Amino acid sequence: MANRFSAFMLVVISALALTGSSAVRADDKKITLGFSQIGAESEWRTANTKSIKEAADTTGINLKFSDAQQKQENQIKAIRAFIAQKVDVIAFSPVVETGWEPVLKEAKAAKIPVILTDRAVSAKDETLWVTFMGSDFVEEGRRAANWLVDKTKDAPGPVNIVELQGTVGSAPAIDRKKGFEEVLKGKDKYKIIRSQTGDFTRAKGKEVMEAFLKAEGKKINVLFAHNDDMAIGAIQAIEAAGIKPGKDILIVSIDGVKGAFEAMMAGKLNVSVECSPLLGPQLMSAVKDLMAGKTLPKRIVTKEGVFPMETAAKEFPNRKY
Ligand code: AHR
Repeated sequence: MANRFSAFMLVVISALALTGSSAVRADDKKITLGFSQIGAESEWRTANTKSIKEAADTTGINLKFSDAQQKQENQIKAIRAFIAQKVDVIAFSPVVETGWEPVLKEAKAAKIPVILTDRAVSAKDETLWVTFMGSDFVEEGRRAANWLVDKTKDAPGPVNIVELQGTVGSAPAIDRKKGFEEVLKGKDKYKIIRSQTGDFTRAKGKEVMEAFLKAEGKKINVLFAHNDDMAIGAIQAIEAAGIKPGKDILIVSIDGVKGAFEAMMAGKLNVSVECSPLLGPQLMSAVKDLMAGKTLPKRIVTKEGVFPMETAAKEFPNRKY
């Protein structure tokens, strides 16, 4: 009898491992996921949080959610708390790239697998996390620059660009800048005349754009903003200066949030390169797969598009964030 029962259990466990679809552990308890979110700095981040909470609910995963209010120290504290609570899996979106090794080593020592979502960390020991899922930020920067090069191919130049960077030291700020500059390298008519952080927020985007306008005035031909929120803040500053955003100054940004589509439909923003925050379902299925003993690919890249303003009205009804 005992043997038949063990054989039956083996079949059940193998079936679960194959589908990876169970939200319960081998001991029948719910899987617990500790997730440390960066904060609520942008429309993108709000949509990302919603996607993660909804997906946990739908899947039946017990989610312990912590908001770090954009502070690395708060994320480290949250991860330590998850380790102390012996959660099954830890996931987090790192606010900056560096400084994570000690806490990741603690998670590894406690045998708790770590999933990086949205942003990467920079660390020599890549065994400290099982997978990194999210966008290719370098490619997003390239896409933004490629759109600009095509749009301005007949302009004699110089094409003077101001850049609003994301949070200092964050993966998207570093990588988007890198991809953008890579495409413009050797194309002498393009000049980045000012570049400063706007911390991915509307308020900062507006404030820094005001300073750019004060310093450079009508010399500015293009704004490259590392996210839509900063672009939307900057649009307010541009309009307040009596300049027409989308016409006198071309506006290129990244994310593809609804606010950007509204600005495009109003003719004030020229293009938004998509960066999808809808990572919840992918994260939950990775968590279940891990608990079922599956090996995850080290990198899971999100598929994304580019939306110039001409496509905004048609695409708007399909937008989910
Ligand atoms: O890491 C993704 C970036 O973070 C988004 O582009 C930005 O809007 C967010 O705050």
